Amino acid sequence: MDKLRAMITGIQGYVPEYRLTNKELEELVETNDEWIVSRTGIKERRILKGEDQGSSVMGAEAVKGLLEKTGIDPLDVDLIICATVTPDMPFPATANIIADLVGAKNSYSFDIGAACSGFLYALQIGSQFIQTGSHKKVIVVGADKMSSIVDYTDRATCILFGDGAGAVMLEPTTEDLGIVDSILKSDGTGAPYLHMKAGGSRRPATHETVDAKEHFAFQEGSTVFKFAVTNMADVSAEIMEKNGLKGEDVAWLVPHQANLRIINATANRMGIGSDKVMMNIEKYGNTTAATIPLCLWDYENQLKKGDNLVLAAFGGGFTWGSIYLKWAYDPK
Ligand SMILES: CC(C)(COP(=O)(O)OP(=O)(O)OC[C@H]1O[C@@H](n2cnc3c(N)ncnc32)[C@H](O)[C@@H]1OP(=O)(O)O)[C@@H](O)C(=O)NCCC(=O)NCCS
Repeated sequence: MDKLRAMITGIQGYVPEYRLTNKELEELVETNDEWIVSRTGIKERRILKGEDQGSSVMGAEAVKGLLEKTGIDPLDVDLIICATVTPDMPFPATANIIADLVGAKNSYSFDIGAACSGFLYALQIGSQFIQTGSHKKVIVVGADKMSSIVDYTDRATCILFGDGAGAVMLEPTTEDLGIVDSILKSDGTGAPYLHMKAGGSRRPATHETVDAKEHFAFQEGSTVFKFAVTNMADVSAEIMEKNGLKGEDVAWLVPHQANLRIINATANRMGIGSDKVMMNIEKYGNTTAATIPLCLWDYENQLKKGDNLVLAAFGGGFTWGSIYLKWAYDPK
């Protein structure tokens, strides 16, 4: 192969220590462990505690671990892209803060916002920089502190989300490895069903917006569920067809972890058994941009060079998409 491709040469995750269990949520809202597990698959989520702790803290921990693991000098990193809906602040970019925290002084950095599809969007963007030959080392981070925008009196959303971060290193290869193809989509008509009403330029923060709880994530769960099931399954089937892949050719489906039922519907549509589906929703819940890198991190030791992976996500916007990649290294 003469053409350059971007391959993932390392993966690292970070989750905070505090575990918010279903039992503890039972004390906050009218819910129960049985309902949460059967409707979502979630048993607990991690929560970042402490003053002045934003998404960058988790992203930086993941990136530090990644640099150590890959033996790459922070000064050799060309670019850091961070996918997040919970930036430390509107500006500077969280990627900027992460670059500073890890000592990536020669890197530039920016954030992208595509909610739960953010990591896929960022991976595709990072991959393009590698493919042109202009960048040699690009870090893609997904980091979200969802607990900062979750209303812990709203049982429809507080059971779903958790905090975490994951980061991958992208480097060029001319081998038949790395990111092969992507299909990314968005549809702004989905905004009313999953969004944060205030805090942006349209409705800046006021006492009224705070009193009306408009700075929390709002979701019309059953509508989002229907769109998610259809679109995540469709786009995963589409990327397989486009690349001539059958169910048996796919080593792993790496799905966004929003709801076990959405994941199962996607796997069924792709003709993939549950033993080939990466799953960690039970311990982390929905960490938005972090779910996919956290899955890759959890399953890294089971991945072999050349494995065909299909990554798939659906999220607020609406945004959705899938990426087909060939894993580039054996367990170390
Ligand atoms: C949120 C979600 C788990 C809710 O499950 P659902 O099966 O759609 O449930 P519904 O919202 O229809 O609610 C069903 C009933 O359970 C109740 N309920 C909602 N949350 C509850 C909770 N935490 N505990 C107990 N009961 C609850 C509702 O009030 C409703 O009761 P009613 O029938 O008396 O009105 C599900 O809609 C979902 O996963 N949505 C998509 C999430 C997603 O993919 N997001 C996109 C990416 S971020």
